[in-house]
Amino acid sequence: MAATDRQTHWETVYTSKAEAEVSWFEGSPELSLALLREAGLTPEKSVIDVGGGASRLVDALTASGQSHLTVLDLSAAALETAKSRLADAARVRWIVADVTAWTPDRQYDLWHDRAAFHFLTTVADQQAYVRVLAQALRDGGKAVIGTFAPDGQEKCSGLPVARYDAESLQAVLGGQFTLVATRRHQHTTPWGSVQKFQFSTFEKVASANAR
Ligand SMILES: C[S@@+](CC[C@H](N)C(=O)[O-])C[C@H]1O[C@@H](n2cnc3c(N)ncnc32)[C@H](O)[C@@H]1O
Repeated sequence: MAATDRQTHWETVYTSKAEAEVSWFEGSPELSLALLREAGLTPEKSVIDVGGGASRLVDALTASGQSHLTVLDLSAAALETAKSRLADAARVRWIVADVTAWTPDRQYDLWHDRAAFHFLTTVADQQAYVRVLAQALRDGGKAVIGTFAPDGQEKCSGLPVARYDAESLQAVLGGQFTLVATRRHQHTTPWGSVQKFQFSTFEKVASANAR
């Protein structure tokens, strides 16, 4: 899918559906918070939510006093929805970008991605994502990535997805990253159907950028 088509798709989704009318909506991002805490989340850690959309993770992280928080998404409308809920939206850095074409201008301690990476179905896009991840994460930083599991759905939001377990995701991320934790997860959509996810946490090994 061309980058412009991708952006149009997601802008259309977020301008035509209410927050809780999308399958990925969750009222409280409990699993993401738990995995980020396991990955070392403390208020002073810098965190980026990639493909964060209108997710409520940013609400929970600002409420617990996260000092360096960035949310990146292709859809400006999605970020506007999230911003409009927050009393202190100005404390968050909001970036409208395609992650595969983004150039980070700083490094983060923690990278979170719930259901964005799996929309990248070409090797070129997946490799571009991994390059950006390696640039954006500090050595020793951790990435929590949630995708549909191998026995999960083949499509989301009408788009094909790539499905992963920890090993296949490790294979795509390559030797710059080491798997530190993984768990299966069942997400219940607002209309009660169940989606099978796999969440995995990877650590960026030291000096990866130098290779
Ligand atoms: C299924 S939604 C998940 C949103 C959010 N992470 C959540 O848990 O509610 C996928 C999100 O990824 C974003 N996205 C898809 N492809 C992207 C890309 N190449 N770069 C940045 N964001 C992207 C979409 O705009 C959308 O907000």
